[in-house]
Amino acid sequence: MASGVEERVRGMAGEGEEEEEEDDRPQLSAAAAEALREFLAEQRRDGAGGEGEGGGGGGVELVAEDWRLSQFWYDERTARALADEVACLVSGLDSSSAAVACIACPTLYAYLKTSSPDVAAQLLEYDERFGQYGGDFTFYDYNQPEELPAAMKHAYRIVVADPPYLSKECLEKVAKTVSFLAHPEGSFLLLLTGEVQRDRAFELLNVRPCGFKPQHSNKLGNEFRLFTNYDPADRLGGWEKSDA
Ligand SMILES: C[S@@+](CC[C@H](N)C(=O)[O-])C[C@H]1O[C@@H](n2cnc3c(N)ncnc32)[C@H](O)[C@@H]1O
Repeated sequence: MASGVEERVRGMAGEGEEEEEEDDRPQLSAAAAEALREFLAEQRRDGAGGEGEGGGGGGVELVAEDWRLSQFWYDERTARALADEVACLVSGLDSSSAAVACIACPTLYAYLKTSSPDVAAQLLEYDERFGQYGGDFTFYDYNQPEELPAAMKHAYRIVVADPPYLSKECLEKVAKTVSFLAHPEGSFLLLLTGEVQRDRAFELLNVRPCGFKPQHSNKLGNEFRLFTNYDPADRLGGWEKSDA
């Protein structure tokens, strides 16, 4: 788990920062270490596990990011674009079956419920602070990809996933969860992850990159992409042409 955090936190070093020497143990760059110190100080100010405006804005309250859980929230533009896309997909479906599963993407869930409160959305998350969403929260650990309530099996026409780590193992397990949740009549799948997962994501989930580039409130060094199993055409920049 630490390696995933390291992978992302490392990417937060400012441009021109020199990478530290590779080591078996997780290591932070000077810039990331400084950012981590600020984060811990902020957490102490908020009180342990305290809530705060962890990014986003626009009236949507998020809990503070916890980097130990690989939490990096979308910026407002990204969260709004994703919420609009999901609402657009929902509007084209029979309302009785248009349920949305948000796997490890609490910011999307929060924006979606603010902009489209009537959309049936379920947040699958490891961080129990999101229990604040009541029945819309389901505890989820990607290491037990199918340990979910039976009622959720094949119940979602729209599935959005943002796996916590950029590893093969994590994507394979999340892919199992996606299969578990996906509707027998087919589901729209949106996967947010690093560009480095492009080939694996295609093999496991048949998704292709879109032109739209997701961004985070705290800039990450890793290039992030949105992959979908359908061509959004004139939305989200459509499928990347060279890959079509
Ligand atoms: C990269 S973040 C994605 C968040 C997204 N960018 C957003 O703004 O909503 C990964 C998410 O995975 C969650 N997570 C951490 N460990 C997990 C685990 N073992 N199983 C499932 N989810 C986990 C974190 O709480 C975090 O919300």
